[in-house]
Amino acid sequence: MQYERLVEWAKGVWEERWPNRKYVTIWASAECSNMIAQNQIRAGRKLRGKARYDGLQSLDCPVIVPISDYGTRGKKMVLTATAGAYVFKFSQENEDPFEIIYASSYFDDDVQDLTAVAIVPVDKLETWAAFEFACARAVRPRIRRRRDVYIIGGTDAFFDPTVDWDDVILPDELKNDLSDDMEAFFTKGVDIYRQLKLAPFRKLLLAGVPGTGKTMLCAAMAKLAISHGRIVVYVSGSDRDGASFEKIQRALQAVTAARYPVLLIVEEIDAYLQGDDKARVLNVLDGVESPNNPEGALLLATTNYPEVIDERIAKRPGRLDRIFVIPTIQDDQHAEQMLRHYMADQWQEDHITVVPQLIDQPGAFVREAALHARMLAAHEHRTEVTLEFLQQSIDSLVRQLRAGNDFLRDRRPIGLSNNGGKSKKVSRQNPFGFRDELV
Ligand SMILES: Nc1ncnc2c1ncn2[C@@H]1O[C@H](COP(=O)(O)OP(=O)(O)O)[C@@H](O)[C@H]1O
Ligand SMILES: [Mg+2]
Repeated sequence: MQYERLVEWAKGVWEERWPNRKYVTIWASAECSNMIAQNQIRAGRKLRGKARYDGLQSLDCPVIVPISDYGTRGKKMVLTATAGAYVFKFSQENEDPFEIIYASSYFDDDVQDLTAVAIVPVDKLETWAAFEFACARAVRPRIRRRRDVYIIGGTDAFFDPTVDWDDVILPDELKNDLSDDMEAFFTKGVDIYRQLKLAPFRKLLLAGVPGTGKTMLCAAMAKLAISHGRIVVYVSGSDRDGASFEKIQRALQAVTAARYPVLLIVEEIDAYLQGDDKARVLNVLDGVESPNNPEGALLLATTNYPEVIDERIAKRPGRLDRIFVIPTIQDDQHAEQMLRHYMADQWQEDHITVVPQLIDQPGAFVREAALHARMLAAHEHRTEVTLEFLQQSIDSLVRQLRAGNDFLRDRRPIGLSNNGGKSKKVSRQNPFGFRDELV
């Protein structure tokens, strides 16, 4: 066996250099012969217990062929794991200097795994342990600067948390409720959960017809969370892999490993509530499979189809802590605010006449109407977007909607087990049967 040959050789070297000094033979860490560690840990390095590392000397060992592996560090190629024999030198205040004989080698031809032994003075194990620890730390891949946003199932383009809170046009009360909920959870709630010996995991749902600004709100909440030093984990079902429990699971792993408070965003959560995955998602909501991040995890889920969020989720206490209904435009004041926002520098005072027509429409409708009005004007080579263009634009969008070409609604087939995969029609006027009970 190679290690026996190493020990035999090392003992011989020891007897020659330190006759009569008591030693122990130990399995040592292969990292002490790693070139990265040797380059980084220089003579003079202070170690625990008032000891100092004084450098090394290579030794010729007939049973080891010195050889290094190599790899990248940053952009550079460097030598890494190395087989070789060394004497490491140490000194300690008010004591004689001492040495450690060390040899690392490949165990056998088939296994590319270094094995290392060391001969250490019996009373110096502690210094050696500190040295090994320093070597191991030097070799460990450097932890990259932490990311603020982790996207599961998609690229960074899938989610851009740069939306300003003020750009989301919704009733102030609703917005404040939502941001207060997040703040209260992370600042006070997490401790309370911990005192109760519960995993700090709070679950919020944003429910509303398409285009009311749920995705936008998620992005604005994410920006807010990041500004407080939290991490955002975003699960996207829009990539080729679609919505699968596997993604939720990966997200939960990221949440658990984060070591920071996490805002977990799962958009269109209803898409995950199908087939076999459904029971597992329910387990997560129930706490059976939920993440345990001691810093706290807040789930912000969205759905365009609140009516298909199974009663078992909506009505069973504890599965969701709170449902926020994200409404269509409810009054003139918001309609005007939204219209001004999207008309921007094209705003004219008489545009205000269309405001009543915007009631009950989602924000996305106003944005589309404003954009389309600009296109109409441009088409006629006009620089001003007159009221006529705006009205024309609204009329044509309304016609499209009536014709069933609902550009605001995604056409993802949806459905839960109990309605055979077909969605129930949502009336725009009162899409949420549970509005009064749950909000
Ligand atoms: N409340 C809102 N305030 C400002 N803009 C909005 C609002 N709701 C929708 N919009 C506009 O419509 C677009 C689509 O909205 P989105 O957030 O994707 O809706 P949802 O996720 O609810 O379907 C947004 O990017 C934004 O331009
Ligand atoms: Mg959305």
